[in-house]
Amino acid sequence: MKSKSPENQWFSNSIISWYRENPRHLPWRETQDPYLIWLSEIILQQTRVAQGLPYFEAFSKAYPTVHQLAAAPEEEVLRLWQGLGYYSRARNMHACANYIVEKLDGKFPDRYATLILLKGVGSYTAAAISSFAFGEVQAVVDGNVFRVLARYFGIATDINSSSGKKEFEALANQLIPVNAPGEFNQAMMDFGSRCCTPTNPNCDTCPLTRSCFAYQNELINSLPVKINKTKVKERILNYLVITCAGHLVVRKRGEGDIWTGLYDFPQSPQTFPWQGNLQSETTLFPKKYRHLLSHQRILASFWECSLSEENLPNLRDWCQNEGFDLVVEQEIDGLPKPKLILRYLTDREN
Ligand code: ADE
Repeated sequence: MKSKSPENQWFSNSIISWYRENPRHLPWRETQDPYLIWLSEIILQQTRVAQGLPYFEAFSKAYPTVHQLAAAPEEEVLRLWQGLGYYSRARNMHACANYIVEKLDGKFPDRYATLILLKGVGSYTAAAISSFAFGEVQAVVDGNVFRVLARYFGIATDINSSSGKKEFEALANQLIPVNAPGEFNQAMMDFGSRCCTPTNPNCDTCPLTRSCFAYQNELINSLPVKINKTKVKERILNYLVITCAGHLVVRKRGEGDIWTGLYDFPQSPQTFPWQGNLQSETTLFPKKYRHLLSHQRILASFWECSLSEENLPNLRDWCQNEGFDLVVEQEIDGLPKPKLILRYLTDREN
């Protein structure tokens, strides 16, 4: 292995010293269990530490082992995941637990090369698990790491390009010390999320400023370079919120669109066969919500439609024909729902 330059050595030592002086006790750092570390990393792919903590607590309590997660019904897993968004991650996580139990005899993969073969585990997550649980020398490279390296070393390559990713990965793997790979990785993540933040970084207290390229050249706000290629589509959803004698019509979403397996409501246009157009029954003004997903900007209108009790048998038949579920209103609480629906329901209660 190539020996490190004194500059690189100084950088790595400084990052680790900063980490030791600014400790943060997080439950997934107090374990070497690859299953729990994997759980935390899948959750943290989706959210920040503060928001991810209660989810990690809930999942590790409900499913302390991979066997328990594998045995859980998918709907229960999705319900626990509710609010985190990007539900395919939760489904992949569940499928992955089943794969480990059924195909690997419940034994979690124990190195980068086999971890990366798991569904939902990319190079970042494989590096995190293998370094934290098994001490493997694999550098994690995520948004935090891109930012720290781009600023400190003055790298202007687009972090969204594949060549950029390779360049940053190679550099991080040169910097990671063989005697403390897990600690270095944790330190880089924390340093990026708490000191070298995207906006208003704490340069005043940063121990690296004297040799930080961006700081010295007043390029903090220009680095890293990120060319955005994601196209965001506008989408309009018209929801029918049909209630009748304490019941509510919900729909479990199918595959091939957003929110597979989650519950929302029927969408207009829908007609009631026994009474003509539903529009005549609905409120005149819908409640409107804007909701942003990674690739879609949604404008949702919720048309509330309250039917009198005598419609219940017809409504039940209609739901059966259309593939909707008629649930007792309180039951919706226990069903997994997209954040948009949760926002609407929470407002509706208040
Ligand atoms: N973000 C992703 N993984 C993390 C970890 N292990 N600790 C803190 N933040 C993280």
